[in-house]
Amino acid sequence: MSNTPPTSHTRLLKWVNSFVELCQPDSVHWCDGSENENTQLCDLLVEKGVFTRLNPEKRPNSFLARSSPSDVARVEDRTFICTRLKEEVGPTNNWASAKEMKSLLAEKFKGCMKGRTMYIIPFCMGPIDSPLAKIGIEITDSAYVVINMRIMCHMGSHVLRRLEDEVAGNVPVKRFDHGDYVPCVHTVGAPLEPGQEDASWPCNEEKYICHFPETREIWSYGSGYGGNALLGKKCLALRIACTIAREYDWMAEHMLLLGVHAPSGEKTYVAAAFPSACGKTNMAMIVPPEKFRKEGWKTTIVGDDIAWIWPDEDGRLHAINPETGYFGVAPGTSYKTNPIAMDSIKENCIFTNVALTDDGDIWWEGMDGEPPAHAIDWKGNDWTPESESPAAHPNARFTAPAAQCPTIDPEWQNPKGVPLSAIIFGGRRPTTMPLVYQSFNWSHGVYMGATMGSETTTAAIGLAAGVRRDPMAMLPFCGYNMGQYFQHWLNMRNKVREMPRFFHVNWFRLDKNGKFLWPGFGENMRVLKWIVDRCHGHAGGHESAIGWVPHREEFDLDGLDNFTEEKFAEVMKIDLEEWRAEFLSQGDLFLKLYTTIPKEIVFQRELLAGRLS
Ligand code: GTP
Ligand code: SPV
Ligand code: MN
Repeated sequence: MSNTPPTSHTRLLKWVNSFVELCQPDSVHWCDGSENENTQLCDLLVEKGVFTRLNPEKRPNSFLARSSPSDVARVEDRTFICTRLKEEVGPTNNWASAKEMKSLLAEKFKGCMKGRTMYIIPFCMGPIDSPLAKIGIEITDSAYVVINMRIMCHMGSHVLRRLEDEVAGNVPVKRFDHGDYVPCVHTVGAPLEPGQEDASWPCNEEKYICHFPETREIWSYGSGYGGNALLGKKCLALRIACTIAREYDWMAEHMLLLGVHAPSGEKTYVAAAFPSACGKTNMAMIVPPEKFRKEGWKTTIVGDDIAWIWPDEDGRLHAINPETGYFGVAPGTSYKTNPIAMDSIKENCIFTNVALTDDGDIWWEGMDGEPPAHAIDWKGNDWTPESESPAAHPNARFTAPAAQCPTIDPEWQNPKGVPLSAIIFGGRRPTTMPLVYQSFNWSHGVYMGATMGSETTTAAIGLAAGVRRDPMAMLPFCGYNMGQYFQHWLNMRNKVREMPRFFHVNWFRLDKNGKFLWPGFGENMRVLKWIVDRCHGHAGGHESAIGWVPHREEFDLDGLDNFTEEKFAEVMKIDLEEWRAEFLSQGDLFLKLYTTIPKEIVFQRELLAGRLS
């Protein structure tokens, strides 16, 4: 395999060498990010049985991977923020002493790559010329990680060259940071003895996903899956980035980014924070209903998971998507629910933990058409529609290059980002939360985001008892104290001259029979239209106890069959009884964070209490 000559960046070389010494790999490979390298790595994984090559006629240049059943998702209880002082991370994070965790990890990493190749991945989160772009170097012993990182971010020699230029002071890019790279080390934690046969998905029962915000380092041990292992994503672009963002007046958020094109030609960008598996990918790829398309409405996607947002010189918030791919939930994705995703995964994709059909294609629960009469499930066993367990794991995912998405926004790689007009919060709320409402102002908007949540079980109909509060969808991703994070959100108002509007949406409200009240998916365009019109002052609304809500007349229900006035009233209902329960339930969050929660947020709570009484 070709090998990029090592770098002129002496500190980087020294750092890599120290890990070669510690991890004792059989060989070291500097990734150049080339097509050729990628082909060789895919071939290698096919040969080792990690990858199954899919039928090139059905799914060209695509592969299936089956993970170990013990390694199928992020592991929140094994995710640590490691600092000098515990107060720094607050009560919503797992804390570990940075010093102690470092020495523990140094033990764990000793010889951890024996029998394996160490890959050095230079990568950049964000368009490389963006003032916010962040370069990282990931050391990993997983070729699967290399292949996925190549889809998910800018990766290879050009990033390394850029880093060298930056360190040498040759690039006049204004950065919101000191410019060097974020060191990321990853191992599956499964060294091989000489002659020992490798597992098809090596990993370790013991996992440590560790972040050191004070020194901006990431160490990940024991898992090869998703956000645990592709360290540019959640670890760097959210947990570490949000600590950098706090310092340099920007924001790193768990948000999709979407462009809405009105018939007038006006283009409006919105960001939306929904918790994991609550529909960010769906909304980012929304296809407006036919009626809207005929009128000239169109949407484009900038990103589906992470947004980096900063106040630019024009006084507006601008945003980039730091990623270049989608790591999307597969089950439930179909031409009916998300045709744009289906068209984005036609080729050049990695599928993890989906089912394999007899003709060498992929399948999962919720895909269009009849289930296959026979398939191989995500564990590698025979599966038929009679089987009791699902064919695809519920968190099975596709890794797809964003560039091949048919609705990709032409500006998605613009280093200046796109200007933001609205920030939307939402979660799965079977009760209480209306389809849409708008905050009264910025601090009320921050309150809305801070108290947002998702129902843990749809059984808890009636009261807001089973809500998991997930502030700004950042509960698992905020690298510092949540109270201070709220304060940062409040502070950002002073950096912006043209304010974005804040909204809360809920696609998941249920009727008394447990059915979704709102059709959702493409029809969410109707909500988006109201939001966009509000941003430009084209739509009115009226004040309710919880915020601004649309008048029935100016909310477009045209062409939505069987959706009666009564249904609209039901999905928009603000039931004060339910809201008092919601208010009390929000109190748990305030109790948990009481030492650091900003006064302004407490004040917003009091205002809400007043409006509800
Ligand atoms: P992460 O990648 O985990 O951060 O999640 P995500 O927010 O991108 O989640 P994703 O788009 O994968 O969530 C998909 C889930 O949301 C599926 O269960 C969909 O059925 C559901 N969903 C998405 N949009 C809608 C909608 O408009 N209505 C309803 N009822 N369900 C929806
Ligand atoms: C999420 O859990 O929010 C994801 C998937 O986007 S992972 O990258 O695995 O964290
Ligand atoms: Mn996510």
